[in-house]
Amino acid sequence: METDRASRTAVMVRQGRAAAHGRLAEGRFADPVALELLRADERVAVRHVRDGAPPKGWGERVAYETVGATAEVMVPRTVAIDDAVRARPAPQLVIVGAVLDDRAWRLPEPADVEVFEVDHPASQRDERGRVAGLEPLARSVRFVPVDFTRERLDTALASAGHRPETATTWIREGVVPYLSRADVTATVEAIVGRSAPGSCLVVN
Ligand SMILES: C[S@@+](CC[C@H](N)C(=O)[O-])C[C@H]1O[C@@H](n2cnc3c(N)ncnc32)[C@H](O)[C@@H]1O
Repeated sequence: METDRASRTAVMVRQGRAAAHGRLAEGRFADPVALELLRADERVAVRHVRDGAPPKGWGERVAYETVGATAEVMVPRTVAIDDAVRARPAPQLVIVGAVLDDRAWRLPEPADVEVFEVDHPASQRDERGRVAGLEPLARSVRFVPVDFTRERLDTALASAGHRPETATTWIREGVVPYLSRADVTATVEAIVGRSAPGSCLVVN
């Protein structure tokens, strides 16, 4: 993760979900928010996939194939994690590596839930601009900037108002492969330390 740039992979994940919405696994998968989180240039490949219209140029064709393949992968991953979150409801939902996750804006279940979105400061700056006009379905959304290579998850969450005596559902989706073993261990230890009985960790 470069320190001065937002996550490109998070945008790619979002493009995949936007391309899948209404086309793949209807009745099981829906992400109407994904497209709204994308900028105009990021929507071009999504439109090509949704139209089933492969573009002629080499670069555009690569983007088309990438977004189409990402859509296929993202649907089962999203459905599995959404199901897991619904199966273990808790008053707090912490999304660790949350940029463009959109569950706080998309899922009706967290209506009574406090959501904490944790991510790298650069990615989070980018996300805040994208969600500015959107109303969350969750009771509250708090943004918690943390660089896992340099900062502590537990102290950042404590400062943001997360309550360790109350159960938490934790999501770590698509983040572990970007971190060293030591950074993964440190964040898991922080999660364990702030997990009241009834908490649940959903990890991919
Ligand atoms: C592929 S994206 C996944 C985003 C989201 N969870 C999803 O599945 O759509 C990877 C995420 O890991 C975050 N990340 C990578 N390195 C990080 C670090 N050192 N500290 C905090 N977040 C990091 C990126 O900012 C990005 O949000």
